Amino acid sequence: MARAGMERWRDRLALVTGASGGIGAAVARALVQQGLKVVGCARTVSNIEELAAECKSAGYPGTLIPYRCDLSNEEDILSMFSAVRSQHSGVDICINNAGLARPDPLLSGSTSGWKDMFNVNVLALSICTREAYQSMKERKVDDGHIININSVSNLRMWPRLSSMSSALPRTSSIFPLTWERGCGQKEGFRQPSCTPTPAPQGWGGREKP
Ligand SMILES: NC(=O)c1ccc[n+]([C@@H]2O[C@H](COP(=O)([O-])OP(=O)(O)OC[C@H]3O[C@@H](n4cnc5c(N)ncnc54)[C@H](OP(=O)(O)O)[C@@H]3O)[C@@H](O)[C@H]2O)c1
Repeated sequence: MARAGMERWRDRLALVTGASGGIGAAVARALVQQGLKVVGCARTVSNIEELAAECKSAGYPGTLIPYRCDLSNEEDILSMFSAVRSQHSGVDICINNAGLARPDPLLSGSTSGWKDMFNVNVLALSICTREAYQSMKERKVDDGHIININSVSNLRMWPRLSSMSSALPRTSSIFPLTWERGCGQKEGFRQPSCTPTPAPQGWGGREKP
């Protein structure tokens, strides 16, 4: 008989990007609490290792597997998917959470700041989406999820972060594209995009722009 609710996700694998703090760490913890195997990635892998130890001592039924990955480097991302494939078969849920908002407005910001934002907010999200989708497809996973954590900056401009709106075209362009390919062709995975309400920990620990 099919397992109901979150029970059916037990022992399935979720990838959470940006799991070293903030929303990503909270999501990773919640999934481990529900019995999933979670690969949590970020550059500050020591934070994820601490969280993994916390989850273990709390007796949560799932496991958190820390993975050091610089999402602005495609080779790092591809190595991570390859390691997941060889060690755990593949990704069933991909949560594209990692993102950054640099104070680099369109009219005065630095090009390097824009590149950093595009590399993580757009390119890494696209690469992870493609790799997760291919992983689900080759294993005939028909209930996979790709979830993009979005930003209200998509919908309105912040004076000191104006370039971020263009660095976060997550719902405006990427979402309909994957929706069309994924659900339109009935390939059996969903890609909701989540635009958060104000986060409990604030604006990544920084002053709101
Ligand atoms: N907090 C809010 O109010 C708010 C509002 C709107 C949208 N959001 C969105 O929600 C998501 C999470 O926000 P948050 O506030 O939790 O952010 P946060 O606390 O600043 O955490 C960002 C995460 O992204 C990771 N990251 C950044 N650059 C990376 C890179 N090059 N490679 C790998 N990981 C990288 C960071 O890990 P390392 O630095 O360790 O690599 C960290 O784990 C973001 O996409 C953000 O745009 C948040």
